[in-house]
Amino acid sequence: MKGKIAVYSFSENVIQSFKTFIQKNFTDCEFMNYSSTNLNFFINNMLIQPPDLVVLTLVASSKALKTVPEEVFLYEHEQVIRPEYFAPLAREIASIVRMVKKALKDNNLKTRLLGMDHEDFTRVYLGNGVDFFLPIKTLSKQDMITAIRTGLNNKVAKQDINLVYEKQEFYNMVAAHNVLRARARKTADTKKEVGFLVRVLTDHKCKTVLDAGCGEGRLSIPLAIHGFKVVGIDISEVAINNAKMNAIKYRQNFKHEPEFYIMDIFDLNFNTKFDAAILMWHVVCDFRTRLVEALNSISNVLKHGGVLIFDFPDISNQMNVKIDKNGVYKTTLANGFKKYVGLVLPLETMLKFLELNGFKEITYHKVKWGIPKFVIVAKS
Ligand SMILES: C[S@@+](CC[C@H](N)C(=O)[O-])C[C@H]1O[C@@H](n2cnc3c(N)ncnc32)[C@H](O)[C@@H]1O
Repeated sequence: MKGKIAVYSFSENVIQSFKTFIQKNFTDCEFMNYSSTNLNFFINNMLIQPPDLVVLTLVASSKALKTVPEEVFLYEHEQVIRPEYFAPLAREIASIVRMVKKALKDNNLKTRLLGMDHEDFTRVYLGNGVDFFLPIKTLSKQDMITAIRTGLNNKVAKQDINLVYEKQEFYNMVAAHNVLRARARKTADTKKEVGFLVRVLTDHKCKTVLDAGCGEGRLSIPLAIHGFKVVGIDISEVAINNAKMNAIKYRQNFKHEPEFYIMDIFDLNFNTKFDAAILMWHVVCDFRTRLVEALNSISNVLKHGGVLIFDFPDISNQMNVKIDKNGVYKTTLANGFKKYVGLVLPLETMLKFLELNGFKEITYHKVKWGIPKFVIVAKS
């Protein structure tokens, strides 16, 4: 049975043993390895890689643990939760269920929720919010397999959102209507960005730079003027044509003339590897559910230890990402920028993602380039 299963728990041990359980009993299923510690991180992950089934295992007591077969849950250092702690915990559980439900609803995801619980008092909370739940009191390995199977069987495939933002025509339209230039006045600061990039690229002794999603060469051209060997790629042929036209004016200023190609970030095709790749002015926010894929694709064209630099708006951990009926992600940015199109992740989610995807020496810089943003510098 195929499917993606994610689990949220207060305990990393539970997640690990649940993962073992899934891998053993549902060999075709993908286990989404999310962290237990941060609900925002969990929910953001859910939006990037929507699972078919979310399992919430939120309460454990010593009594319940004894009844659970060891191969299902290996609670090694699990703390015993005493009754006096139950009330605040129950409130927390209720609010977790509410937040997970809301995120699923706001984003039209048909992911099902399976709650695992063991005491009547929390059943009220979990029972209200989740599609179905299992009381751990009576849980056997077979119960659990049946419940998960039911959850996956009942799954209504995730809504097939027609992501307009993944289409080349869309980016051509953006470039053709000068949307980029108009937006740059409010949400970018070319002078500061070039200053930052030159400093970081020089510090890391980078000579060759891939400007991925280069648009009209807003940064490729000044970087080439500063002596870097720049290759700009963009999915939009209109943007690439404009970049080539823009570069002509500076021909006499280049040591190496920048090269521009129509190319999809997800389908990069180069004979050489680069010292650095930049994805500036929020390009990463366009990738939404394909962020991991995009990072891998960029990694593949970087030299070992190559430098990755990208930026994204600071949303100060707001949980307000929504997908509208056209499949366009919208969120509200800090400092009153009401609608931002693209999936904007909180800083810590982004940092975790890079770590999980093998990037090293990850640093971030808080900047204000038009709007408050974070710039990430990491090594492949
Ligand atoms: C906000 S603009 C940034 C342009 C440029 N980096 C800058 O700083 O001026 C995003 C650019 O990413 C490009 N883009 C989006 N998805 C892409 C993909 N899959 N492959 C290549 N380029 C892409 C768009 O065409 C657009 O030009």
